Amino acid sequence: MPRHLFIAGAGTEIGKTYVTAALTRRLRAQGRTVWALKPLASGVPPLDDPAFADSDTARLLAAQGIPVSPESVAACSPWRFAAPLSPDQAAAREGRELALADLAAWCRERMAQAQGTLLIEGVGGLMSPVTDEATGLDWLKALDVPALLVAGSHLGAISHALTACESLRLHGVPLRAVVVSESPDAPAPAEIVAAAIRLRVTAPVFCLERGGPCPDGLAALVRG
Ligand SMILES: Nc1ncnc2c1ncn2[C@@H]1O[C@H](COP(=O)(O)OP(=O)(O)O)[C@@H](O)[C@H]1O
Ligand SMILES: [Mg+2]
Repeated sequence: MPRHLFIAGAGTEIGKTYVTAALTRRLRAQGRTVWALKPLASGVPPLDDPAFADSDTARLLAAQGIPVSPESVAACSPWRFAAPLSPDQAAAREGRELALADLAAWCRERMAQAQGTLLIEGVGGLMSPVTDEATGLDWLKALDVPALLVAGSHLGAISHALTACESLRLHGVPLRAVVVSESPDAPAPAEIVAAAIRLRVTAPVFCLERGGPCPDGLAALVRG
């Protein structure tokens, strides 16, 4: 069983942070040591802006029971950009550059040093750009870590999920599980979407209702 996981999305705004936070809380409730990281984040307000509380970084720190401070934020999310754009574009707006090698090296170092489990949340969808050249898939491949894929239950979500699963398979990235996080105003129950995905992938497929807790069985897939 894997010790660390990369949380990838079948799309953006799909539930990656929600699922990562729910899994973090469940593992902690079981007495496990877990670190949830969002190494690269765009659309992040300054720490003293009340809107910071809604950022992925703040939500993941809260799930870990870690207070927001400049140090804790930097340790969770070393690359933060203000513009709500893909990270490559958000970085360009600030005249900054981001190299995949640096991002991957930071993650690898954290994985090597971590006591317990590291949950690394990606950015956007699986193949969203992360730097001028690299996508999230390139980042994931550089880490040699299994993926947890978060999908939605909106119309079209099955194809997005299966396309992401197929991309992972073709690139040799182990898929640990798929979580269908119920989309707002979804036309069908999330379990119907999960069942359709389950028929077509070998990894376990879990369903997380709107506002629901970490699915039973998901935490058991993560080695302590
Ligand atoms: N299963 C769920 N139940 C309730 N709210 C959810 C669920 N999944 C996602 N959300 C909400 O939808 C929005 C987008 O989810 P988020 O986890 O931030 O997506 P991502 O990290 O993939 O961009 C957030 O406001 C989040 O709280
Ligand atoms: Mg997120």
